[in-house]
Amino acid sequence: MSLREEIEKLIKEQPVKGDELLIALNLKKYFPVRRGLSDILKGRRLYVRAVDGISFGIKDGEVFCLVGESGCGKTTTGRTIIGLTPPTAGYLLYRPRPEIAKQFRDLGFEPVYKDYFLLNDLFRNKKANKLLRRELQIIFQDPYGSLNPRFTIYSTLEEPLVVHGIARTYEERFRYISKALEDVKLTPPEEFMKRYPHQLSGGQRQRVVIARALILDPRFIVADEPVSMLDVSIRAEILQLMLELKARRNLTYLFITHDLAIARLICNRIAVMYLGKIVEMGPADEIIEKPIHPYTKALVAAIPEPDPSNRFKIRDLPIRGEVPSAINIPPGCRFHPRCPHAFDKCSKEEPPLIEVEPGHYAACWLYHK
Ligand SMILES: Nc1ncnc2c1ncn2[C@@H]1O[C@H](COP(=O)(O)OP(=O)(O)OP(=O)(O)O)[C@@H](O)[C@H]1O
Ligand code: SF4
Ligand SMILES: [Mg+2]
Repeated sequence: MSLREEIEKLIKEQPVKGDELLIALNLKKYFPVRRGLSDILKGRRLYVRAVDGISFGIKDGEVFCLVGESGCGKTTTGRTIIGLTPPTAGYLLYRPRPEIAKQFRDLGFEPVYKDYFLLNDLFRNKKANKLLRRELQIIFQDPYGSLNPRFTIYSTLEEPLVVHGIARTYEERFRYISKALEDVKLTPPEEFMKRYPHQLSGGQRQRVVIARALILDPRFIVADEPVSMLDVSIRAEILQLMLELKARRNLTYLFITHDLAIARLICNRIAVMYLGKIVEMGPADEIIEKPIHPYTKALVAAIPEPDPSNRFKIRDLPIRGEVPSAINIPPGCRFHPRCPHAFDKCSKEEPPLIEVEPGHYAACWLYHK
């Protein structure tokens, strides 16, 4: 089977439409575990199966959320799809802007399906990879850790412009940087340019991180828990800013959060991950109002509720036990040791992700006819 035929087949079989901006097909990312002597003698290889075969498509202009408990593979998915770490298996397809597509063609790449290029190949090519930085960007969780403390805000924002040869004169770069700071509402921009990260508040630092991600005018942003380290009081304004920028610049977000309440506020669709797999995926409202998978039901039941004193009350996850290790994933449905509805088949066979309602998918034997 040719690569094109294999991709066409997967698009038919997997929960994607085949017209999205970015498509992941059977994506896997395994990390080798350092082995002890007895493992080496027995020839045993152990892997952390951080992302274990997931498929999804992110539509142009949408906010697509990945949610799930710590360690379920959200960050690894985000890092893999923008090329910060190579996938172990699976395909990543991306439909670039025509002017960028032309440059990929000039480098000798051709689309592998319709007008989609295979990111797996592009990431391995230095020049293509550099071009992709102008399309795909990431915003990290920790605004302090992701800014160089010895760089002024001006230097922080100037660096990508210099690396990509975008604005060639000092005046041009100054204009770009002023505009970027105004876009994230750090005004007057001259005032912020000369400061160092430690001279900014947490919210202002995250605004600089957003400005840096947007300065090359990308189309697709992975936002990895962008507000979870910020004070609750400023989370809403950063989320609001991200939505405003998305509308103004036609951005598409992969938004990563462990917090379903935030996902509900800003996402169009949600994919729920458990131990490296997507167990449920669908429109955000439906996932929250009518969750299907027992794991999603537990997450929804744990959404913090505002109490009368206006403070948040975190409820415990109403399921037993801890998430098992991603090195020893339980057989069958990987959620079965914690599932209150598990039955015989669940520990033997892995349930596929099937469409239970139009556009709403779940991987649970309870919903197989
Ligand atoms: N570089 C690495 N080497 C080895 N294991 C890794 C590496 N990066 C992640 N992992 C493991 O892969 C699994 C998924 O990690 P990941 O950071 O993607 O989860 P996450 O859902 O983002 O969690 P959190 O909510 O805590 O950020 C975890 O078991 C983690 O320990
Ligand atoms: S397949 Fe079985 S164990 Fe898994 S979520 Fe459904 S009922 Fe629970
Ligand atoms: Mg993470």
